[in-house]
Amino acid sequence: MSANAQIIKTQVGIVGGGPAGLMLSHLLAKSGIENIVVEKRDHETIRTTHRAGILEAGSVKMLTDTGVNGRVLTEGMEHEGIDLRFNGESHRLNFPDLVGATVTLYPQNEVFVDLAAARKRDGGDVRYSVTDTEVLDMTTDTPKIRFTDSEGQLFEIHCEILVGADGSQGICKWAIPQEYRTDNFIEYPFAWFGILTEAPKSSDELIYANSPHGFALISQRSETVQRMYFQADPNEDASKWTEDQIWDELQKRVDGPDGFQLKRGPIFEQMILKFRSYVCEPMRYGNMFLAGDAGHTVPPTGAKGLNLALADVKVLFEAIDSYYSTKSKELLDGYSDRALKRVWKAQNFSYWMTNMLHTRKDANPFEVKRALGELQTVVSSRYGQQYLAESYTGWPHS
Ligand code: PHB
Repeated sequence: MSANAQIIKTQVGIVGGGPAGLMLSHLLAKSGIENIVVEKRDHETIRTTHRAGILEAGSVKMLTDTGVNGRVLTEGMEHEGIDLRFNGESHRLNFPDLVGATVTLYPQNEVFVDLAAARKRDGGDVRYSVTDTEVLDMTTDTPKIRFTDSEGQLFEIHCEILVGADGSQGICKWAIPQEYRTDNFIEYPFAWFGILTEAPKSSDELIYANSPHGFALISQRSETVQRMYFQADPNEDASKWTEDQIWDELQKRVDGPDGFQLKRGPIFEQMILKFRSYVCEPMRYGNMFLAGDAGHTVPPTGAKGLNLALADVKVLFEAIDSYYSTKSKELLDGYSDRALKRVWKAQNFSYWMTNMLHTRKDANPFEVKRALGELQTVVSSRYGQQYLAESYTGWPHS
């Protein structure tokens, strides 16, 4: 223990106040399990960090059924399908018809706002803007989180269960000694150039486009603000692009005989988003459990990141809840294996979508046409469409 650290005792200590950490905190509190969340960013920074926006039906249900609030139902946009566009033609996948499900476009920042408000409303202990966070003694019965709060006071949380929900850049997974963890990862030779524009919708639903010029995704935020992305070089300097260049590049990737035209408007944000696929195995070390991006990251093409984080939280909550009600560690011991089953399914889906839709700079004509054959396989049969639709809308929570 540090000489001047103030000690706080709780049952569950959570590092990370993004959607995973806050959702877990919310569920635990509802079950009467004490917990404290520490987060290095301030509320405003998280609120204004743009992230993907597709929620599976199971994620929507988690927000509404557990009493976070119903804003996702009134302000989210329910989508009944997506368009896969290639060879300049759009192919719509109708999710209710294929798999009896829908998804909801509701950006991750809004999920954060709702969860943060629910923790505040219910008297949750969430400490933002902390610095120098460390996790200690993970293999003992009293794992600890040491941090300095926004006023400069040093604290040590002494807990029984420690949760690392501190995102892909977090400290928790790196605190697992290397001989106890396997880092599985791959990198991709491309990134996304993302924009936010003040323009009317170009499409009511998302368009995932493969083209000889590379991938593009047409997404939305509201009637007047749109989100779009196109495949770019990871080292591209986004600030060098003019609005006309960006629009021309996006348009090239959706051009086709149907004459589809993007509706243009002023661009008020442009950035490069790098991505990779990563899984830490196991998602546990002693009494520390990893959840969400702290344990795994997926490329954004399958829109799985937040959904996977919430699915981890569901499984972890059940395990912690069972531990406190029965004193049996069985479900905690099974957490990593159970969570990883879904994680690897989502990794496979995200990898598959990414590789099928993007075009490598050095791809030869065989590879380009093979990918088109794959897209054709998906859209030309109900089974192919169902495979994509089932994965995209989310497998049932077990
Ligand atoms: C988004 O709207 O930001 C978005 C949607 C779907 C994706 C990725 C990003 O697959």
